[in-house]
Amino acid sequence: MKNELLGILDKRTEAYYEIPLYKDAVRAMDLRQIKAGSADFGVMSYDPAFLNTASCQSAITFIDGDNGILRYRGYPIEQLAEKCNFLEVAYLILFGELPNQTELNDWVAQITHHTMIHEKTKKFLEGFSHDAHPMGMFISTLAALSTIYPESRNVHDPEVRRLQMYRLIGKVPTIAAYTYRHSLGYPYVYPDNELSYTENFMNMLWRMVEPKYHANAALARALDVLFILHADHEQNCSANVMRAVGSSQADPFVCTAAAAAALSGPLHGGANEEVLKMLDEIGSKDRVPAYIERIKAGHGKLMGFGHRIYKNYDPRARIIKWAADQVFEATGRNPKLDIALELERVALEDEYFIKRKLYPNVDFYSGIIYQAMGFKPEMFTVLFAIPRIVGWLAQWQEMLDDPDQKIARPRQIYTGHDVREVVPIEKRDLSAALSGV
Ligand code: ACO
Repeated sequence: MKNELLGILDKRTEAYYEIPLYKDAVRAMDLRQIKAGSADFGVMSYDPAFLNTASCQSAITFIDGDNGILRYRGYPIEQLAEKCNFLEVAYLILFGELPNQTELNDWVAQITHHTMIHEKTKKFLEGFSHDAHPMGMFISTLAALSTIYPESRNVHDPEVRRLQMYRLIGKVPTIAAYTYRHSLGYPYVYPDNELSYTENFMNMLWRMVEPKYHANAALARALDVLFILHADHEQNCSANVMRAVGSSQADPFVCTAAAAAALSGPLHGGANEEVLKMLDEIGSKDRVPAYIERIKAGHGKLMGFGHRIYKNYDPRARIIKWAADQVFEATGRNPKLDIALELERVALEDEYFIKRKLYPNVDFYSGIIYQAMGFKPEMFTVLFAIPRIVGWLAQWQEMLDDPDQKIARPRQIYTGHDVREVVPIEKRDLSAALSGV
């Protein structure tokens, strides 16, 4: 039987401690007993950016980054993408099991019932400048929903929580489509509840004067698969923000706004927009080697490459290539694809990228598909955020139900001044102040 204890010898005191291991992890609070003297605070762990710290236990998503494996609730992402639709997968992620037909019908009916947004929300969106970034509009509108549903603050009532989930999952495509139409100056299109989740989203994006929108089935399926791939990704930057903000018992609308803000950064979900900018900058296949040399020389990063967890091919990127084929059959091939494929080929043969285990991530190809569908790069991260709402809500709910969790409040290692006296302003030396002395 495995000995589940870790022995630590403190060389300062020669004291020996046995610390229990739980699932190969040390509880950081167990380190606190290790003290150099009775007045000592005790040992802490120092882990900026959580490189080696589990902040929670979770039963939602499993990633094996070394072997390129991603599973939601135990089901491989490849099977879910092939055999399920997005709302089925959303149900699985949120409630732990795939729905039967009755459960799915009820779930779809609930989500569909909540696709409309309050007219005041529409007016609020109208206040944004015509060139406002869609992600900024999306984040602000999520937060503004909190003012429309004040009962959402009652986060400990499971029924209230469930209602806000319906609302958020139902309304995010509507908000996203409105930000898109706003940036084009087009009138808003109301949801059509006879359509599927993705078809209705396409209806709100692209219907013009026709009385009924008929979505291209291949594009609707490709978008649905992209939504499945983006639905959750365990403790990524935005999920961690959702949990941290939610741990103060803030309502789910402001929590998701905060998570979406984290997603918008170029190192996270904003990378898909940056990939397209990068491909534009490269311009043609023959300029790829020179661009790679620039990256290796330390001038920026190859956007859409690298991942904190995946040190192998991102399994989502593989499925995205399948979706790309479906989309390009309907829209024609995006010429950027050739540059992207060449970039991937050159990078994967290069010692710099091999040594650091840098592979294409989910954002590398998604933007090329979105662009072929007719989206401007500024919309790409909003398209990522729609399905990720599901993951954020699942992480939030799990956190609220977890008896181990408390308000998220990390420690710090203080490196500033020791105590000092305030000098009257006329006696302060300007040069000393400027030099920080
Ligand atoms: N291009 C070039 N070099 C890179 C890249 C890249 N895309 N990513 C990492 N590296 C290098 C780093 O410079 C570092 O090199 P060094 O050891 O010589 O200093 C090494 O690889 C390790 O990288 P870290 O920055 O330590 O990796 P970390 O886990 O902190 O960062 C991240 C992961 C943020 C995703 C990073 O790879 C990156 O910035 N990628 C580009 C942005 C991107 O595509 N983000 C989307 C991620 S997926 C998602 O969030 C949905």
